[in-house]
Amino acid sequence: STIYPFHGEHQAGVTTAAQDRLHFAAYDVSDISRAELVSLLKDWSAAAARMTAGRPVGDGAIDGQKDAPPDDTGEALDLPPAGLTITFGFGPSLFDHRFGLEDKRPAALIDLPHFPGDALIDELVGGDLCIQACSDDPQVAFHAIRTLSRIAFGRASIRWSQLGFGRTSSTTRAQVTPRNLFGFKDGTANVKAEDTARVTDHVWVPRGDSAAWMTGGSYLVSRKIRMTIETWDRTALREQERVIGRSKGEGAPLSGGSEFTEPDFAKLGHGAVAIDAGAHVRLSHPKQNDGALLLRRGYNFVDGNDDLGRLNAGLFFIAFQRDPRTQFVPIQLRLAKNDQMNEYIRHVGSGIFAVPPGAAVGGYVGQTLF
Ligand code: HEM
Repeated sequence: STIYPFHGEHQAGVTTAAQDRLHFAAYDVSDISRAELVSLLKDWSAAAARMTAGRPVGDGAIDGQKDAPPDDTGEALDLPPAGLTITFGFGPSLFDHRFGLEDKRPAALIDLPHFPGDALIDELVGGDLCIQACSDDPQVAFHAIRTLSRIAFGRASIRWSQLGFGRTSSTTRAQVTPRNLFGFKDGTANVKAEDTARVTDHVWVPRGDSAAWMTGGSYLVSRKIRMTIETWDRTALREQERVIGRSKGEGAPLSGGSEFTEPDFAKLGHGAVAIDAGAHVRLSHPKQNDGALLLRRGYNFVDGNDDLGRLNAGLFFIAFQRDPRTQFVPIQLRLAKNDQMNEYIRHVGSGIFAVPPGAAVGGYVGQTLF
């Protein structure tokens, strides 16, 4: 079973080969002091280091005193960590007077603007803190969020959370491109861990960027995007491919070639451009966005069904970047205005978080902030 080290220059769970399962949670911090916030982050880091190494937290599930509740809840006892990564982030609302962090808020940690067509539900937006737990085993990812929430009791509580059951991105060249719930390959043109120059330029915060404490960190934008798959499923294959701009089978650009052929946006086919003016891959491509790139790391979700019997399905979009002001925001603005896909999707949740650099052995995530 794969074990990813918790400590290091960067937090794991960003360029790490995307695991199959996600449990993501955003937290509101309670009325606690700055010192108590720091001790929460220390406790979280210590527990995360143990769990990602495949060890139970504290005295474990069975080795503690019999007359006290066990430190570890136990459901991961016989399970290997299955590539568990635990990634922590800080939302804009953490940087207020409560903790005296006003001056430390990075300029890049903006309040996201309202995008055309946004249908955000208050209960699915924001958060002072976030935790992204990814593993190839859903119970291991769940155990991480459950345990960290339990450790936070009285100090922070879950504001919203999301389970994801299938990755919608590949983040290394060795991984096969998975499919999203529209049935299309997703992640083909993603930033991959092997593209070290792209990762350095577009994902990690470099030394000398606005907030020094974020050096080696990144910014996470999450969007819960409902996909009206019933409508999509009544749409002709030709139309589905026109909306995406790629073939459904191989995922090749409609301008020709195979999956990893670079799209040719000028190429004509049937008297018009082969890749439609409103196709998702045209509008999201770096060529239309001043070279902006994202490291996408999203997951498919299905949260049961609505009262009309439609599946409450979609994509929990997660993207990492060096600066959302020049990456997520302009891309999403262009998509929100013109993407043909908008007929089939609705953004219902949103979050933006500063993901600090990794912790050194003996240190904790967020240490550079305090
Ligand atoms: C590419 C699906 C939302 C940014 C793609 C591709 C698919 C896809 C099938 C082509 C394969 C690939 O290169 O990965 C979807 C679906 C979405 C969604 C189903 C919503 C439910 C978004 C959002 C953004 C985004 C919200 C960013 C604001 C991108 C980018 C690419 C891409 C940057 C790569 C473009 C390129 O370089 O060729 N998406 N996407 N997508 N998407 Fe999305």
